[in-house]
Order: sequence, then structure tokens, then C-alpha cells
Amino acid sequence: MKPHVYVACRIPSETESYLAQHVQYRKWEGPGAVPYEVLLEELAEVDGLLTSGNKIGPELLSRAPKLKAVSTMSVGYNHFDLEEMKERGIIGTHTPGVLDDTVADLILSLMLAVSRRVPELDAYVKQGRWSKGDNEELFGLDMHHKTLGIIGMGRIGEAVAQRAHFGFGMDVLYYNRHRKPEAEQKYSAKYAEMEELLRHSDFVVLMTPLTPQTRHLFGRKEFEQMKPTGIFINASRGPVVDEEALTEALQQGEIFGAGLDVFEREPVQADHPLLTLRNVVTLPHIGSATAQTRDDMARLAAENLVSALLGAPQNVVPELRK
Ligand code: DGY
Repeated sequence: MKPHVYVACRIPSETESYLAQHVQYRKWEGPGAVPYEVLLEELAEVDGLLTSGNKIGPELLSRAPKLKAVSTMSVGYNHFDLEEMKERGIIGTHTPGVLDDTVADLILSLMLAVSRRVPELDAYVKQGRWSKGDNEELFGLDMHHKTLGIIGMGRIGEAVAQRAHFGFGMDVLYYNRHRKPEAEQKYSAKYAEMEELLRHSDFVVLMTPLTPQTRHLFGRKEFEQMKPTGIFINASRGPVVDEEALTEALQQGEIFGAGLDVFEREPVQADHPLLTLRNVVTLPHIGSATAQTRDDMARLAAENLVSALLGAPQNVVPELRK
């Protein structure tokens, strides 16, 4: 008999056809995200769950006695309670690789948008405020041939380094748990301790995953160590940054600007102080959100789930590997 699966996120029809060949499934038809109570009910009899961000914690797992595998359609898996999953022997998989270039493209676009003040000046033109004459107030900062500091040199960090080094002639510094000799060679990247990186970089890109160790990794002290012309980009997870400290740094001109695809709470509250600042470019967590990449992620997540349920797991998150 085919394993039973619940699909809690939207997936393309080709991926659904693939799933149908291997499992019996029910799915959330929307609109919006599946309500938690519905999810709990649906999980009572299933062997596998395909999700894209539902919190997988003790309550949910206790309501899913047959559950063997959870596959998330994301590379980040901070919504997995790893201890609880390990204790219950649940396989947890994610989707590394297929989104690297798409997220890296978005990071470069944030770097340019902040340094050349693109959204701010777009509004300036559309509001009819453009008058004749070369107005120094509109000047931005160069990106080409500047120094980029990458905190967290994983696959996406490397894709950013590649674009920055070969496309924009930037010098690359990086800080990571382990040194990456190959990246150093490929992008002439130099390893630096955090403080050294912050003091020397014109652009700081934060790419560390959210773990108990990285929560609020970036706070007042780190912003103080950046250059006053420095630009801060976060496209990993909001809680890695202390948003109060970031707001203060931006308000007081300790840094030039910030580009944020992620927030401590998502969706970000409409009255959040960061949203009132001229020198912040904000996005609604769309790092991997192109049609092609989301299709690829859905397909990979479905394949991960099927493989796990058939006894040959792939793309298991590092902490749950046997
Ligand atoms: C991921 O896959 O973790 C990304 O944040 C989604 O955009």
C-alpha cells in the first residue's frame, strides 16, 4: 500500500502528478495558509508531511503518531524542533541547492537598491519632485570595486561572492564557522574575524541560518563596528538581527542603509519603526520567489518526501542525519 501524505502548501500540478505516482495524498486547498487546527486533524493518520514553514514541534508531533518524515519546501528549517524530531526518529528534509542563484540575485538587487537609493528615487520621480539641475542630495554610493563582507559562506554566500567579485570587481571578505579554501581561491575571498570584516566592509551580507546560537547575533555592537557608509543586507532570517539595534543604527546614521528581505516577525507589522525610514529597502521574504525556482523547490521537496518514505532519505537536514 502507498504511504499517506498531507500536503500543507501549494505545489504545481506536475509535482502533484509525481506525488500521485508514489503516495496517497490529501492537500490544503486554501485560501491562505492551512489553519493549525486543520493541520493537526489531517496529520492523525499520515506517514509524511510536505510543508513550507509550519512549526513542527511537540504538540504537532504528538498528534501525528504515524508520522515518519517531514519535508520542507525551503532551505531554512528553523521551524523544525530538531530535538523533538530526533527523539521521535522523524526524518526532516529541506531543499538546498535549487534556490542559490535566485536568492543571490535578490541579494545583489538589494545591495544596488540601497546603495543607489532606487526605491527612494523612484518615488521622488513619481511624486513629481524632479526638478532641473544636478542635485547632490540624490547621490548614492558605488557598489563596484568596493569591499563585500559575507557572514555565513554557504552555497548562497558563494553565489553572492561570485556575482560580486566577477560582476562588480568587489573584494570579498567572509566570516564562517569553517574556512572555505575553495571559495578563497575561486573568488579571491579572504577570511576575516567578525570585527575585522565589519570594520572593513562597505557592504555586509548576513547569510547565517537561524539557530539558538545565531539569534540576535547582530546587535548594537556589530552595527557600531560597521562603517558610517556601510550597507547592511539580511536575506536569511529576521531573528538573527536585533531590530531595535538596527533601527537605532539607521536613525543615528551609524550606517548608510539596510536592505531587508526578512523580519523578526513576519509579516512585519505595518507600524514597525523600520518601515518609516528612508534608508531601508524592504521586501516580503521573497528571496527564492520566482516561478521557476519555487517549482524546482516543490519538486525537490516532493522527491525528498517520497525518498524518505521509501527508505532512502535524501537532503536530510544536517542535525538529523544518521
Ligand atoms: C528558504 O528556502 O529558506 C528561503 O528563505 C525561502 O525564501
